[in-house]
Amino acid sequence: MPQPATDPALKAVIDWWAEMGVMADPALLKALTPAKPSKHPSGSQPAPPKKRKGAASVADHVETARQLAASCDTIEALKAAIESFDGCPLKAGARNTVVFDGVPGAGLMVIGEGPGADEDRTGLPFVGRAGQLLDSMLAAIGRSRSENTMITNVNYWRPPKNRNPEPDELAVCRPFVDRMIVLAKPKLIMAAGAVPAKALLGTSDGIMKLRGKRFDYTPPGAGAIALYPVLHPAYLLRRPQEKSRAWRDLLTIEAALGDGN
Ligand code: URA
Repeated sequence: MPQPATDPALKAVIDWWAEMGVMADPALLKALTPAKPSKHPSGSQPAPPKKRKGAASVADHVETARQLAASCDTIEALKAAIESFDGCPLKAGARNTVVFDGVPGAGLMVIGEGPGADEDRTGLPFVGRAGQLLDSMLAAIGRSRSENTMITNVNYWRPPKNRNPEPDELAVCRPFVDRMIVLAKPKLIMAAGAVPAKALLGTSDGIMKLRGKRFDYTPPGAGAIALYPVLHPAYLLRRPQEKSRAWRDLLTIEAALGDGN
């Protein structure tokens, strides 16, 4: 007689076969049925699956990133450290590590979501169509990446098919993002789009709720910095009717920056 199947999914398949009038082949059942009763006393949990020897967890990668970032005292050293970091799985599918563009130390730091195809190709953030719109938005308030604005992202590698970065992918980049803010000391952070706004503020609120408001962002080991979420330029390309909202937010940011920043 075949052994009774103990795995619920296996049992469901065998029951379904039986209902259909198909008798399971005993040899197949033997192969599919778990070999031995577990060593664990009834009611106890089996040990969690063992981590593959040598495989680092996300927490390990975050810690490596934290230590690497903390060891950097200049933006250039930090850029090199990010480029050398292999703890983000997105890196394997990307052509370039996209770290920042613009003027370190400028009063305004724009933080976007992460590279797309154009950024992956060139190694610079916000250079595609959305980037061109961002440049126009910045120009409208007297800002540019060549003079008085630094531009970076919460993720440094292009995700496949331009999907949003996953929480784990953002988590391993985060120590670098924080260190970048500490070293560049912007007066104000403009979080471009829902992904950076939610990630930095640790909220699940949508961008429509977040935009137009001032938040304080406090990177570890530094003081609070004003952070303003705004609509992402790629979203504005799809929904130009929202540009009036973006314009209002830009004027708020310009006023908050004041002169000489
Ligand atoms: N969108 C972003 O959020 N960042 C980039 O660098 C490019 C497009």
